[in-house]
Amino acid sequence: MAMTGILRPGHAQLRVLDLEQATRFYRDIMGLVETGRDGQGRVYFKCWDEHDHSSLILRQADGAGIDFIGFKVLNASTLDQLDKDIQAFGLKTERVPAGDLLETGERVRFVLPTGHVMELYAEKTQIGNGLPAVNPAPWAPDADRGMAPVRFDHCLLYGPNVMANKVLFMEVLGFHLVERILGPAEAGEPEIGLFFSCSHKTHDIAFVEYPEPGKLHHLSFRMPTWERVLRAGDIMGMNKVPIDIGPTRHGVTRGETIYAWDPSGNRFETFAGGYEPYPDSRTITWTFEGFPHGLDFPQGKLHDSFLTVVT
Ligand SMILES: [Fe+2]
Repeated sequence: MAMTGILRPGHAQLRVLDLEQATRFYRDIMGLVETGRDGQGRVYFKCWDEHDHSSLILRQADGAGIDFIGFKVLNASTLDQLDKDIQAFGLKTERVPAGDLLETGERVRFVLPTGHVMELYAEKTQIGNGLPAVNPAPWAPDADRGMAPVRFDHCLLYGPNVMANKVLFMEVLGFHLVERILGPAEAGEPEIGLFFSCSHKTHDIAFVEYPEPGKLHHLSFRMPTWERVLRAGDIMGMNKVPIDIGPTRHGVTRGETIYAWDPSGNRFETFAGGYEPYPDSRTITWTFEGFPHGLDFPQGKLHDSFLTVVT
C-alpha cells in the first residue's frame, strides 16, 4: 500500500449565522447531500461522490468561521502513533470521544501554531455515494442537484507562525510542500504561503501568514471538470451568490476556480484542474513579484478582497 499515515481532509465544522438559511444554501444551491442532525443541532453534509458519512458540519453561532478541520488517518494504530508524535513535537493533544460527531470515531485534537484546531480520526461510517460497487453508473441522482461538487478538497487557513506549521506538517504529519509563496525581497523573502499535500493532490491544506490566529480563508469543493466550475458560476448567478474572484485559473496549483461567499460570509471555492505531484516532486516557488499571476494567471492581478477578507 502506498498511502499510509494521514489520508485526506475528511471534515470541517463551519460556524454559520442562520442555520436554516445555511442548510438551504449548502443543500439546494451547493448541492451537498444532507446526512444527519445531532443533539447539538448541528447539520451534517457530504458531497455526492464521497463515501464517508459527512465532510461538512454546520453549527449555528454568533460569528462565522471554522471550528476545526479533521483529517482521516489509515487506522487506529496510526492515530495512536501520530498522537504520540504530536505530543513529542510539543503540542498538547485531547481525545474527543467516539460519537461526539455523528458516525465518527475517536478524534485526536490539537491546536496548530497558527491557532487553528485540527483533528485526526480513523473511523467514520461509510454510507456510500449512491452507486453500487458492481457495475456502477458514472454518476448518481445527487450529482445533478445544484453545483454538486464531488468532494471536499482542501482548505486555506490564515494565521501567524506558518513556519512553525511547516515543521509540524513536514516532519511530524508526513505532508510534502508542493508550492510556496515568498514575501518581498526587502523583508528577506520569507515564506508567507505554504501549500501542503498528504496525497497526490496539489494541496490538502494551505496556510498564509496573517496576524490574527485561527482564521478561515476558504473551504474548497472539487468539481470534476472546468465546465462544471463554469456551471457552478451559472448557478451562483441565478441565485445571486456574491462572487469574490473568477471564473479564472490560478498560477499557484494551476487550479481552475471561482471564489464566492456563503450566506454567513464564509468564503468557499469551486475548484477543478491542477496537476498530480508526488512526494519527491520539486517544490514550486512564487516570488512576491510573480504572485499576481500566481493568484489570477490570466489577469496577473491582486484582488484586494481575496487578500484581506477572512472569517
Ligand atoms: Fe483553494
